[in-house]
Amino acid sequence: MTTNPLVIFTPSGKRGRFPTGTPVLEAARQLGVDLDSVCGGRGICSKCQITPGFGAFPKHGVNVARDALSDWNAVEQRYDDKRGLKTDRRLGCQARIQGDAVIDVPPESQLHRQVVRKRAEARAITMNPATRVYFVEVEQPDMHSPTGDLERLKRAFKTQWDIPDVSADLSVLAQLQPALRKGKWQVSVALFKDHTDNPARITHIWPGLFETGLYGLAIDLGSTTIAAHLTDLANGQVIASSGIMNPQIRFGEDLMSRVSYGMMNPGGAAEMTSAVRTALNDLTREIAAEAEIDAAQIVETVFVCNPVMHHLLLGLDPVELGQAPFALASSDAQHLGAQELGLDAMNPRARIYILPCIAGHVGADAAAVALSEQPGKSDDLVLVVDVGTNAELLLGNKTRVLACSSPTGPAFEGAQISSGQRAAPGAIEHITIDPQTKEPRFQVIGSELWSDDPGFEEATASSGITGICGSGIIEAVAELRMAGLLDASGLLGSAEQTGTARMLPEGRTHSYLIHDSSDTGGPRVTVTQGDIRAIQLAKSALYAGARLLMDEMGVDHVERIVLAGAFGAHISRRHAMVLGMIPDAPLDKVSSAGNAAGTGARIALCSVAARAEVEAMVREITKVETALAPMFQDHFVAANAIPHKTDPFPNLSKIVTLPDPSFNMGGDPSGSGRRRRRRSD
Ligand code: FES
Repeated sequence: MTTNPLVIFTPSGKRGRFPTGTPVLEAARQLGVDLDSVCGGRGICSKCQITPGFGAFPKHGVNVARDALSDWNAVEQRYDDKRGLKTDRRLGCQARIQGDAVIDVPPESQLHRQVVRKRAEARAITMNPATRVYFVEVEQPDMHSPTGDLERLKRAFKTQWDIPDVSADLSVLAQLQPALRKGKWQVSVALFKDHTDNPARITHIWPGLFETGLYGLAIDLGSTTIAAHLTDLANGQVIASSGIMNPQIRFGEDLMSRVSYGMMNPGGAAEMTSAVRTALNDLTREIAAEAEIDAAQIVETVFVCNPVMHHLLLGLDPVELGQAPFALASSDAQHLGAQELGLDAMNPRARIYILPCIAGHVGADAAAVALSEQPGKSDDLVLVVDVGTNAELLLGNKTRVLACSSPTGPAFEGAQISSGQRAAPGAIEHITIDPQTKEPRFQVIGSELWSDDPGFEEATASSGITGICGSGIIEAVAELRMAGLLDASGLLGSAEQTGTARMLPEGRTHSYLIHDSSDTGGPRVTVTQGDIRAIQLAKSALYAGARLLMDEMGVDHVERIVLAGAFGAHISRRHAMVLGMIPDAPLDKVSSAGNAAGTGARIALCSVAARAEVEAMVREITKVETALAPMFQDHFVAANAIPHKTDPFPNLSKIVTLPDPSFNMGGDPSGSGRRRRRRSD
């Protein structure tokens, strides 16, 4: 009795025996090997490329003869002549099994390929997009058995792709007839099927074989900026990124002022909805033009955003989010069509997915951070802090995940700081202060040089030294504290108390002069007592939010901290800890995750399984409401001291010895110690 040849696929290791003559694509399908195909084995899409191995494979216990696969055929030759196949590649739908074979599926032929992750601790994305292109051959109409073109297309899906039910709206019907005739009854169909029970839905039809690619947008819709990543839905690669300011800023800088604008002005919410949708259309056109793709190829968009942005994008009045109990119109993930949101710069039938919100103040952006950083899969207790104008915090491990948001205000982004500015050339981003001489040295954005390096003046001549950005002000305050110019309560000393003429009197308080170019018409960059207070308010809110989560978890320290957010990537971990922005932890356990919300959006864009995962994950997260927690104010006040009034910072004291000056002038010069925090963005 002859046994069928053994076929082993790598890298999956899947193996099975198949009758001689079975196409490799068919063997792969039967074994569940991840081998792509758009044309369904017709030899025209080339997605099914494989690399056969020959010779001895002791690991697999087989010897593969040169004739293990059928000969190179005319279809492969035609494809090679037209497009070129890499050496040693075959088309899996054409090569047939003739003997024991070892067949490698290269990454580009894997439908569910993993997208390479950038950081060791970050999750890899397994491609599993909702929208894929299918090539189908549709029967021609026959007067004797009259059926519509759509019905025959549906039948083709069933027989050729085993997809039982597809739906099409009226605008698809308008595309269908010309496409079928132009394509000689062969069409490529972009079909959307997500993780829900809804039937597959046709997004677009092209005549013949469509090979130009499908794209999706992952959009982080922030209250200050909107960032979009145009992503190839075949491989998850970001092919263009672009960002614009959120035009709603003109209605109010922070979230609550936008909610108030809606309350005070009839039609105000609709006005803000229209502004953001117009901006999204502009951004879509811009990014499609940059990537030189047809906007019709953008077939999906995933949004992550805070709850107020979420409601304004959806055209819902966010008024309920401005007052307890902060009820969302819906916290579930949203599945919509682009046209419902007035997003007409992409494919008109593009599908929109908005991640679920965690609570009235913890939005889809925090859900995206949870999807990207996976605190619920962590063995150690991890605190994930997405530092923005409103900080989102997640604390958890495998047993439980908690979430809250904390109203840090815009100080961390350089706003409400006397010499503050956004991160742009000329802004001081890093600073050190010599503890002996009390002299500063600094770096500005746009130059690698430090201010005491030769050539610094020439290098910064064009930008000048214009101010201090968010990461710069955090370092400045922490450096002032380490240099003994600022006491634990947050008071700056006088020139006499500190022994440096850089401390300038300002009424009853003092400021520290970093740089003075006023004699050439430039600015004086100082850190004032008011700046210190603004940073204290912001960092106290952040720390108090973290403490509240730790209380709820019943712990007094965390094992690992992840700083997320575009801004989080630039914060110096050591300075953040000196300041007491974050709880004490070993410094090597504090890491930056970059734009984790944006990464979460990309993951959801590339994988329907991830959408199901984040929806389940959000249901399991315990929400902690900072605005209603009686302990928040106590934690907030205690966190006013730098680094903290009562909490010990044992890991910090191993690396830094903080001086202990006291510049008490008999009262709080700003009177801000117990100022009630306003929830802002
Ligand atoms: S499946 Fe399309 S070329 Fe092989």
